[in-house]
Amino acid sequence: MKFLSFMIMVAYILVSSLRISIANDSMNVLQSMSDGVSLVSKGGKFEFGFFSPGYSQKRYVGIWYKNIPIQTVVWVANKANPINDSSGIITLNSTGNLVLTQNAYLVWYTNNSHKQAQNPVVVLLDSGNLVIKNEEETDPEVCLWQSFDYPSDTLLPGMKLGRNIRTGHEWKLTSWENPNDPSPGDIYRVLELYNYPELYVMKGKKKVYRSGPWNGLYFSGLPYLQNNTIFGYNFVSNKDEIYFTFSLLNNFVIERTVVNQTGIVYRYVWLEGDHNWTMHRSYPKEFCDNYGLCGAYGNCIINQTQGCQCLKGFSPKSPQAWASSDWSQGCVRNKPLSCNGEHKDGFVKFEGLKVPDTTQTWLDKTIGLEECRVKCLNNCSCMAYSNSDIRGAGSGCVMWYGDLIDMRQFETGGQGLHIRMSASESEPEDGHERNTPTIVASTIAAICGALLISSYFICRNRRNNAVTNYSKDKSEKDIDLPTFDFSFISNATNDFSQSEKLGQGGFGSVYKGILPDGQEIAVKRLSKTSGQGLDEFKNEVMLIAKLQHRNLVKLLGCSIQQDEKLLIYEFMPNRSLDYFIFDSTRHTLLGWTKRFEIIGGIARGLLYLHQDSRLKIIHRDLKTSNVLLDSNMNPKISDFGMARTFGLDQDEANTNRVMGTYGYMPPEYVVHGSFSVKSDVFSFGVIVLEIISGKKNRAFYDPHHHLNLLGHAWRLWIEKRPTELMDDLVDNSACPSEIIRYIHIGLLCVQQRPEDRPNMSSVTLFLNGEKLLPEPNQPGFYTGKAHPTKPNSSSRNIDVYSFNEMSNSLLEPR
Ligand SMILES: *[C@@H]1O[C@H](CO)[C@@H](O)[C@H](O)[C@H]1NC(C)=O
Ligand SMILES: *[C@@H]1O[C@H](CO)[C@@H](O)[C@H](O)[C@H]1NC(C)=O
Ligand SMILES: *[C@@H]1O[C@H](CO)[C@@H](O)[C@H](O)[C@H]1NC(C)=O
Ligand SMILES: *[C@@H]1O[C@H](CO)[C@@H](O)[C@H](O)[C@H]1NC(C)=O
Ligand SMILES: *[C@@H]1O[C@H](CO)[C@@H](O)[C@H](O)[C@H]1NC(C)=O
Ligand SMILES: *[C@@H]1O[C@H](CO)[C@@H](O)[C@H](O)[C@H]1NC(C)=O
Ligand SMILES: *[C@@H]1O[C@H](CO)[C@@H](O)[C@H](O)[C@H]1NC(C)=O
Ligand SMILES: *[C@@H]1O[C@H](CO)[C@@H](O)[C@H](O)[C@H]1NC(C)=O
Ligand SMILES: *[C@@H]1O[C@H](CO)[C@@H](O)[C@H](O)[C@H]1NC(C)=O
Ligand SMILES: *[C@@H]1O[C@H](CO)[C@@H](O)[C@H](O)[C@H]1NC(C)=O
Ligand SMILES: *[C@@H]1O[C@H](CO)[C@@H](O)[C@H](O)[C@H]1NC(C)=O
Ligand SMILES: *[C@@H]1O[C@H](CO)[C@@H](O)[C@H](O)[C@H]1NC(C)=O
Repeated sequence: MKFLSFMIMVAYILVSSLRISIANDSMNVLQSMSDGVSLVSKGGKFEFGFFSPGYSQKRYVGIWYKNIPIQTVVWVANKANPINDSSGIITLNSTGNLVLTQNAYLVWYTNNSHKQAQNPVVVLLDSGNLVIKNEEETDPEVCLWQSFDYPSDTLLPGMKLGRNIRTGHEWKLTSWENPNDPSPGDIYRVLELYNYPELYVMKGKKKVYRSGPWNGLYFSGLPYLQNNTIFGYNFVSNKDEIYFTFSLLNNFVIERTVVNQTGIVYRYVWLEGDHNWTMHRSYPKEFCDNYGLCGAYGNCIINQTQGCQCLKGFSPKSPQAWASSDWSQGCVRNKPLSCNGEHKDGFVKFEGLKVPDTTQTWLDKTIGLEECRVKCLNNCSCMAYSNSDIRGAGSGCVMWYGDLIDMRQFETGGQGLHIRMSASESEPEDGHERNTPTIVASTIAAICGALLISSYFICRNRRNNAVTNYSKDKSEKDIDLPTFDFSFISNATNDFSQSEKLGQGGFGSVYKGILPDGQEIAVKRLSKTSGQGLDEFKNEVMLIAKLQHRNLVKLLGCSIQQDEKLLIYEFMPNRSLDYFIFDSTRHTLLGWTKRFEIIGGIARGLLYLHQDSRLKIIHRDLKTSNVLLDSNMNPKISDFGMARTFGLDQDEANTNRVMGTYGYMPPEYVVHGSFSVKSDVFSFGVIVLEIISGKKNRAFYDPHHHLNLLGHAWRLWIEKRPTELMDDLVDNSACPSEIIRYIHIGLLCVQQRPEDRPNMSSVTLFLNGEKLLPEPNQPGFYTGKAHPTKPNSSSRNIDVYSFNEMSNSLLEPR
C-alpha cells in the first residue's frame, strides 16, 4: 500500500515535471503546439495558446495574462476564423510564418513574405509581445513579425498607435464584436495622420471622440494623461513613423487599455494583490467628449450646468434651436472678418481649451508664435493659430483653416488658442504674450540645478582636501558641513559591522559609530545598488545641511568616495517611534502626555519644512520609523532623501517615480503621482492615528470588518464611539475629550481629497486648541460598505492589506 502511494507520488512528480517542460517561452520550426499546449513568457506574465472567449465554445489562438486569475485576452490571431473543436495545430514554418491549421486546413497565418528567415523561432515576451525572429538575432528591435504590430482591441505598454509612414502599416485597435466573439467590430481607435495628428475613436467612418492633438506634453483633450509615477507617455513623429505609446514605470501595476464595442475606451489597472480589474479611466467619458456637440465656434462647458456656449464674439446661428439645447448648428460671428480689407483682422486669445479638430491644419515646427501670427493673418482662410508644442516658451506653429469645431473649456489644464476676429473685436497687436508659468518653472529649475551643483561640489572639493583622519574644518564660503574620510567613518562604525547596524532606511542602511572624541554618530550608507544614487544624495546633503530645527535630525557631515556615499547624523539614543508604539511591551513606556508631545513635535518639524524653512520642502516619506527620538524622547524627523525643493509659489508637482511607503501615501500620490504638502499632511494624519491607537495602519486587522486603521477610525467616528480607538494599555491619565480631539485632527489630515486636508499651520492651531475643528469627510482608501458614494466597493473582496484598498481608490468618482 505504502509502495503504491509512493509510486503514485513518483508518477505525479514525473507528470508534473513533464507539464512544466511544456511551458516554454519559445518554439522552433521542428516543434508544434496543439490545443492545450501553450507558451509562457520567461517571467510568467503572459501565455500564448488556445482559448475560448466568454460563453463561446469555439477555439481561438491568442495571448492572455498568465498571472491573473480572470481570463483576460489581450491579443487574438484567428479573430474571424474560429476552430470548432480542439484539433487546431500551430506550427512555425521555415520561412518564419506562424501557421494555424485544423486537419491540415489553413485557418490563419502570419504574413511576412518579404523578410528572410534563418532558423526562425517564435518567442513570447514578458511584454505580451509574440515575436518571430531568426534564432541568432540578438537585437530585440529586429524581428520577422510581432503581434504588437497587429493589435486586437487592447493596447499594452510598449505598443504603438499610429502609422509606419514607409510601409503604410497602421497600428490601430479594433473592438471585438462582443465579449464572446473577437471578430472585428466597427469601433476603431486610430491615430489620424493629419498634419497635426490626433487619436480618434471611430465608429465605422464616423468620428465618435477625439483626443485633441499632442502638444508636447499630452493630448490637448486629455490633460490628465501626463507623465506621472506610474505611466510615461510618449509621442514620436519622424520621417519613418508617427505613433503614440506609453510605458509602465512601476512593476506593481498591470495596465491595459481596451476599446469596447460600445465605443468607449476603457483603461483598467490591476495592482499587486488585487482580485479583479479596476476601471481607471474611460473616454469618451464626459458630456463634452461627444464629438462636435457644440457645432462650429461652440465651446462645450461643464460647470454646474453643462452645455454649449458660443465663443465670445459669436452668437448662435439658430437662436431657437440653441435655446432648445440643439447646438449642432453652431455659432456665427457677430462682426464679419474683413481679411486684408481696410481694417485688418486681429486675434483674440482664448484660454484653457481643448483645441479644435485638426483635420484642416497646417503645421510648421520650426517657427515660433509671433511668426505664426503673421503667417495666419496673411492668409484669409486661416481661422486660428497656436503653438504646436507647449513646452518651452511656445514653439512651433499650427494654423487652422475652415470652421473651428469640437472645442471644450477646461477648468484647469487646456491650451491657449488665438482665434481670428474682426479688427474691432481683437486685441491690440502688441498684446505680447508672456508665458509666465514656463518662466517660473525654468527659473525654479535653474535655482534647484544651481543648488544641486553647488552642493555636489561642496562634497567633492572637500573630499579632495580631506585629510586621512577626520577634519571638521570649515572653508570660508561653503555651507558649514564637514566631510569625513571614508576609512575614518568605516573605522568608527567597526567596518560597518552588522552589530552596529541600526536599521534600514530609504536607499541604504544606518549604522552606529563612535568618533575618537566619544561622540556618537549615526551613519547612513547609501546602497550602491539603490539606483537612486548621486541625485538623491546631493539633494539630501544640500537640504539637510540647511535645515536646522529641534524637530529635525541634524546632519553632521558627509563623505563621498567613488561609489561609497555616507551621511553622518547626530545619534538618536531612543531609536524611532515605531520601536515604541508598535511593541507589545515598550508601548507602555509612552504615556498620553508624551504621545501628545510627540505629535506636537512632529507637527512643528513638518510645519518648519513646509513653511518656515527658506525652501518649501515636502518630505514624501513621513512614517513612524522616520520619526527618531532623542534622549528626552523628543521627536526628530529624519530621512529627507525623497524631499524635493520647490519655489514657494509652486505647491504641486508630479514625479516620475513612486517613492514612499504604503500605508502612509495618500491616494492621489499612489494613483496619479501628484504630491503636495497635503501628501505629507496625510502621512502625518496616519501617524497621529497610529500613535493614538498603537496600531499600524498597514497591518491593521479587525475580526469584525476588513477596514484598515483609517477606515476603522472613521467608522468609530461616525458611530460616535471614537475613544474605542485609543491604545487601552496606556495609562489612563488622559482626558477622553483630549484624545477625541487628536483623533479628530488625525481624521481631518487623512481625508480623501487633498483640498479638504488642513495645512500644517492649521494643524498646529488645531493641536493648540486655537482653532475650531471642522467635521472630517471620509478618509482616503476608505472601503467601507456602508458608504453611498462608492457602490462598487461592496462587491469587491477586500483584504486587510492596503494594496487592495488602494485599487478601490482608482475608481474615479464622478
Ligand atoms: C524550450 O524551447 C527551446 C527552443 O525550442 C528548447 O531549446 C528548450 O529545450 C525548451 N525547453 C524546455 C524546458 O522544453
Ligand atoms: C469542424 O469544422 C471542420 C472544417 O470546417 C468540419 O469538417 C467539421 O465537420 C466540423 N466539426 C464539427 C463538430 O462541427
Ligand atoms: C509558410 O507559410 C506561409 C503562409 O502560409 C506560406 O505562404 C509559405 O509558403 C510557407 N512556407 C513554407 C516553406 O512552407
Ligand atoms: C498577406 O500580404 C499580402 C500582400 O502583402 C496580402 O495581399 C494578403 O491579403 C495578406 N494576407 C493576410 C492574411 O493578411
Ligand atoms: C464592453 O462593455 C460592456 C459594458 O461595460 C461590457 O459588458 C462588455 O463585456 C465589454 N466588452 C468587451 C469586449 O470587453
Ligand atoms: C514621459 O515619459 C516617457 C517615458 O518614460 C519619456 O520618454 C518622455 O520623454 C516623457 N515625456 C516628458 C514630456 O517628460
Ligand atoms: C470582476 O469585475 C467585473 C466587472 O465589475 C465583474 O463583472 C466580474 O464578475 C468580476 N469578476 C470576479 C471574478 O470577481
Ligand atoms: C460656467 O462657466 C462659464 C464659462 O466659464 C461661466 O460664464 C458661467 O458663469 C459658469 N456658470 C456657473 C454656474 O459657474
Ligand atoms: C492659405 O492657406 C490655404 C490652405 O493651406 C492654401 O491653400 C492657400 O494657398 C493659402 N493662401 C495664401 C494666399 O497663402
Ligand atoms: C591627523 O590629525 C592630527 C591632529 O589634527 C594631525 O596632527 C595629524 O597630522 C593628522 N594625520 C594625518 C595623517 O594627516
Ligand atoms: C581605528 O580605530 C581604532 C580604535 O578606535 C584605533 O585604535 C585606530 O587607530 C583606528 N585606525 C585608523 C586608521 O584610524
Ligand atoms: C531614552 O534614552 C535615554 C538616554 O539613552 C535613556 O536614559 C532613557 O531611558 C531612554 N528612554 C526610554 C523610554 O527608553
